[in-house]
Amino acid sequence: EKGGYDHFMLKEIYEQPKAINDTYRGRLLRDEAIIKMAGIEDNMKKFLNANRIIIVACGTSWHAGLVAEYIFEDLARIPVEVEYASEFRYRNPVITENDILIAISQSGETADTLAAIKLAKSKGAFVFGVCNVVGSSIARESDAGAYTHAGPEIGVASTKAFTTQITVLSLIALRLARAKGTISSSDYRHHLLELEMIPGKVEEALKSDALIKSISQVYKDSPNFLYLGRGYNFPVALEGALKLKEISYIHAEGYPAAEMKHGPIALIDENMPIVVIATKKGHYEKVVSNIQEIKSRKGKIIGIVTEGDVQVKELADHVIEVPETLEPLTPLLTTIPLQLLSYHIAVMLNKNVDQPRNLAKSVTVE
Ligand code: F6R
Repeated sequence: EKGGYDHFMLKEIYEQPKAINDTYRGRLLRDEAIIKMAGIEDNMKKFLNANRIIIVACGTSWHAGLVAEYIFEDLARIPVEVEYASEFRYRNPVITENDILIAISQSGETADTLAAIKLAKSKGAFVFGVCNVVGSSIARESDAGAYTHAGPEIGVASTKAFTTQITVLSLIALRLARAKGTISSSDYRHHLLELEMIPGKVEEALKSDALIKSISQVYKDSPNFLYLGRGYNFPVALEGALKLKEISYIHAEGYPAAEMKHGPIALIDENMPIVVIATKKGHYEKVVSNIQEIKSRKGKIIGIVTEGDVQVKELADHVIEVPETLEPLTPLLTTIPLQLLSYHIAVMLNKNVDQPRNLAKSVTVE
């Protein structure tokens, strides 16, 4: 059942090219330059007239929501707020009939996310669900939705659910951007083309597995890790840190790289491994100067870089390459090495990768 892999998590990491493809298949029609999603088409007026989109989710799904915030605002120019479902539902939020709530959930059973939906509905907001499990409670409670089609995710640590959530949300953002005219026809086509190339590029990224395993060996006994990223890759830094915490029980924190100087830089010494997402697009030069600041304090840098990178390679202790793509799609690639890093470290530490202590696959308690 694990298809020859030692753990479900590893199997699911390797399934991502197919899962992402399954998620956009039948929806992304590149020849016609069309994105076809019934849940969006049937409610296009609501989406175009919305004051704002509120995204609610928990954990990894919340990180996918943060990536979506960047892409919705960047491409479709719709204001987005991303909320932890558990905070949103308990703080008397301002919600109106002109708001759209997007709930993201792999299991579709997360109690706090479900409660947030019910609250938003009671205030007249339109609720759109992005779930993986077909027929789940959140899918049923939503007014409309789009499934991720990742296939069953068994490992407690979410992997392919995350990348397929980003895929669905990117399709929605692109569709809305096209309808609103906030993206040019040629940019739109370029995004569709690049999205179709993502599964192949994820395959490429997976080829760094052996390298990542050797890096894991070096740092597996570190008590702390920092993860840094900017822009679209800031949520990826959060997700990388969460993956490591969950399955290896190593303390890890994700930060926007520019926030380092406001506190976390005090943590840096020669014992601190720092994973920095430093792909070519998106504030590359700024991230390079963040890396210089870390190196001058002797921190150990594991850089996630674009294929062919030169500058970071000179500064970093290790680099892991991912193929180049458009900036909004980089999270689909930069996430892969971070999943593998946490996986290998947890295995080396003899942890129960698929069923980490204290965690459940779906959190049905509030
Ligand atoms: C992380 C993880 C959890 C879930 C969170 C939300 O690897 O698995 O953080 O992402 O409990 O679960 P869903 O997406 O099912 O609502």
